[in-house]
Amino acid sequence: MPKKSHDGPLAGQVALVTGAGRRIGREIALTLGRAGAAVVVNYHASRKEAQDTVEEIKAGGVRAVALRADVSRTGQVRGMFESVEKRFGRLDILVNNAGIFFPAGWDRLTEEQWDRILGVNLKGPFFCAQAAARIMRRRKRGRIINISSLGGLQAWPDYAHYCSSKAGLIMLTRCLAKALAPGIQVNSIAPGTILFPGEKPTGAIKHVIESTPLKKAGCAADIASMVLYLASQGDFITGQIFVIDGGKSIP
Ligand SMILES: NC(=O)c1ccc[n+]([C@@H]2O[C@H](COP(=O)([O-])OP(=O)(O)OC[C@H]3O[C@@H](n4cnc5c(N)ncnc54)[C@H](OP(=O)(O)O)[C@@H]3O)[C@@H](O)[C@H]2O)c1
Repeated sequence: MPKKSHDGPLAGQVALVTGAGRRIGREIALTLGRAGAAVVVNYHASRKEAQDTVEEIKAGGVRAVALRADVSRTGQVRGMFESVEKRFGRLDILVNNAGIFFPAGWDRLTEEQWDRILGVNLKGPFFCAQAAARIMRRRKRGRIINISSLGGLQAWPDYAHYCSSKAGLIMLTRCLAKALAPGIQVNSIAPGTILFPGEKPTGAIKHVIESTPLKKAGCAADIASMVLYLASQGDFITGQIFVIDGGKSIP
């Protein structure tokens, strides 16, 4: 008989996943819900998808709620965490998953694009972590997991803005791990190429797959299962970056 969510390793805990209405964030939210956590599904534009994710989590027997907030706006972030505290009275796990990604050569990138990507990919995770840690430290424990990218470790010429934002997130992970220790553990997962059902690898992605030792792209579950490990186990791990890329980054 399948285990009910409320018997899982995260039973009684509360998790917030940013950008959880779709794709990787959705898979993370469902996985934490299946492990027994009550889940706050943050979204920005994808209201319907976020509500669908909430319904699926609730069907497993745990609480879930969708909260809208643009993570790059600190006022909205503050409001979201206040709402979490009011509704749940605690927060155990924060997954900073929301992110944006687009190419722009160095001579074409605008100030607006620079501010937008740094706002969502780096400033957002910092202020979410700040607000989350203020709640977590009352129980003297918590887990923060930042979804960075292989692009934070490698230099992609048409993505200087994206790579810089994710490299910043990696350093933020290390700094916060020290700042919030010993109670709160902070780690990062750096995914390589992730494909979703129905997505066919095209030109550049095909090339990436061919040059990846495991000869495949990853799937959202590959990321979500590592999030679950870092959220429910890994008691002696903090400040670390877990690269999940099929070996693509092996020098
Ligand atoms: N997919 C990959 O191959 C890959 C590889 C490496 C790293 N990553 C990282 O993994 C994470 C998830 O990637 P993905 O491919 O699943 O997602 P994606 O298609 O890039 O979707 C982005 C997610 O972030 C949310 N988001 C964007 N702007 C936001 C904002 N201002 N406030 C709140 N949420 C916002 C979106 O929510 P709404 O739709 O509600 O706006 C959406 O759920 C990202 O951080 C990405 O950089 C992905």
